[in-house]
Amino acid sequence: MPEADAAFADNLPATLARAFDCLALGCTDRRSAAHAPALATIGLDGRPRLRTVVLRAFDPGVRRLRFHTDRRSEKTAELARDARVALHVYDAAAKFQVRLEGVATVHHDDAVADAAWASSRPFSRVCYATSPAPGASIPEGGAYTQPTPEGADGGRGNFAAVLVRIERLETLYLAFSGHRRALFAWRTGAEPEATWLVP
Ligand SMILES: Cc1cc2nc3c(=O)[nH]c(=O)nc-3n(C[C@H](O)[C@H](O)[C@H](O)COP(=O)(O)O)c2cc1C
Repeated sequence: MPEADAAFADNLPATLARAFDCLALGCTDRRSAAHAPALATIGLDGRPRLRTVVLRAFDPGVRRLRFHTDRRSEKTAELARDARVALHVYDAAAKFQVRLEGVATVHHDDAVADAAWASSRPFSRVCYATSPAPGASIPEGGAYTQPTPEGADGGRGNFAAVLVRIERLETLYLAFSGHRRALFAWRTGAEPEATWLVP
């Protein structure tokens, strides 16, 4: 059996910890790979839909991620219809891929949304005050309005915090001496079922 070269690579709990560290770093370091993962939803027409989102928070204890979005966005309608999501991160420097699946809850008029809005910067808040709504068809690329950061509080009504509870997570570590692929699935309780997979 080939030996992978990173310390975590042949240890399932250490591999999961490495994945969680990657997600946590994504929330605090905007240059890290997990800062802007791809989020997949199931489109209203049943097609897969992908887009970039920014990770805002990760609580490893309850396996919960947070990102922010506009209530008027297509993805919010998709989540209302089917809350199942997937996220993808590839850290090229670490040669480490994380794929996860979970269930999303959209918060716009509760304490979760209030706290998330309070933690956001005026510069980010302007996105939620665009007119017309995101995704609306316009005659020219610039045919929409956005307030200055001073006027951005008007976006609160369009703001949503989305929490994703991780149910399944897969890692792939690329190593010259032998790739490693691992799967973690939480069915009941806090401990995952963990197994190695053929890369
Ligand atoms: C670097 C980057 C970060 C982004 N972050 C977010 C985000 O945190 N939330 C969000 O709703 N859209 C974000 N977007 C825009 C989305 O990728 C997408 O274009 C938009 O939300 C519309 O998606 P939808 O029509 O599927 O709802 C980001 C785009 C880029 C390029």
